[in-house]
Amino acid sequence: RGSNRIGDTEGCGGTEMGFEPKRILVTGGTGLVGRAIQEVVANGEGQTDEEWVFVSSRDADLTSAVETRALFEKHKPTHVIHLAAMVGGLFKNIRCNLDFWRRNIHINDNVLHSAYECGVQKVVSCLSTCIFPDKTTYPIDETMIHNGPPHSSNFGYSYAKRMIDVQNRGYFEQHGCRFTAVIPTNVFGPHDNFNIEDGHVLPGLIHKVYLAKQNGSALTVWGTGKPRRQFIYSLDLARLFVWVLREYEEVEPIILSVGEEDEVSIREAAEAIVEAMDFRGELVFDTTKADGQFKKTASNAKLRHYLPNFQFTPFRQAVKETCTWFSTNYASARK
Ligand SMILES: NC(=O)c1ccc[n+]([C@@H]2O[C@H](COP(=O)([O-])OP(=O)(O)OC[C@H]3O[C@@H](n4cnc5c(N)ncnc54)[C@H](OP(=O)(O)O)[C@@H]3O)[C@@H](O)[C@H]2O)c1
Repeated sequence: RGSNRIGDTEGCGGTEMGFEPKRILVTGGTGLVGRAIQEVVANGEGQTDEEWVFVSSRDADLTSAVETRALFEKHKPTHVIHLAAMVGGLFKNIRCNLDFWRRNIHINDNVLHSAYECGVQKVVSCLSTCIFPDKTTYPIDETMIHNGPPHSSNFGYSYAKRMIDVQNRGYFEQHGCRFTAVIPTNVFGPHDNFNIEDGHVLPGLIHKVYLAKQNGSALTVWGTGKPRRQFIYSLDLARLFVWVLREYEEVEPIILSVGEEDEVSIREAAEAIVEAMDFRGELVFDTTKADGQFKKTASNAKLRHYLPNFQFTPFRQAVKETCTWFSTNYASARK
């Protein structure tokens, strides 16, 4: 079916020269993060001893153990980047906590167990900073994932994601597997889900500004605009994912985030979009709508310890690029 391959190690000199080529299977390869990894691999980050295979739910429904196993047997990966998940913004999470829990638990268990049974050398899964305890001290770091209940708005998604960390520890202790996870903050970029009801805050706002501009109406931001978030551009995250796959040896997860000083309020994020799209209308805050967690400031000290010189794309530039992508691809964008 429709999996997307980059690079081809079949018949290449890899094994002849004494090293095994890597076959990297990316689940969720058609989503926001998956498409960004496709782009950075195709545009210079890929290596000749790597074959990348990007799959979506059309290749296998990973909630099915049988389909997951068949996918692994078909592609025989040596490495896996596991992105596939039921993902959504605040309002979809509030409505569907049970579905988030069940689907993600099944997907993660099927992927990790198939990886174990098929002898995969390394798996990098994806957690999120929104799964950390609601009541906590700041900044949040990698040691604090299990220190208390998550925010009530997304408890289903959060507990399912936390179990990946439990599984990684278990597969390491019982079987010596190198299964690890990264913890990104709020991701945005081209190919995001720009649905206003079910998507994340930034793509939802971009879509709203686009419509408000077309209709000559005001821009209504849901909530007070006061909550604070660290946003990471999907293409920056993609470069970091490739580094983790190749270089990061710990089973313990690592937060992938811009610095604490780069946290912005929802109002500031909305203003960056307004500027990028040259929207001249009124900005209104609908305070009858939920704010979600006030902040979840994360420390990127561990990342900086490994990669002190990594350059993040400036927020306003990344917002501008994403707005331009959305406007150019409005007809086909997920919305
Ligand atoms: N977006 C964020 O702000 C954010 C922040 C932190 C962490 N993360 C994590 O990053 C990862 C990628 O997120 P994203 O924003 O790129 O998500 P996304 O754009 O919604 O993409 C989700 C991907 O998962 C696939 N998928 C969903 N259900 C599946 C199933 N049952 N079987 C097989 N594939 C399935 C989708 O395939 P189809 O295209 O076929 O539906 C798609 O490729 C997720 O693990 C997410 O939890 C995201």
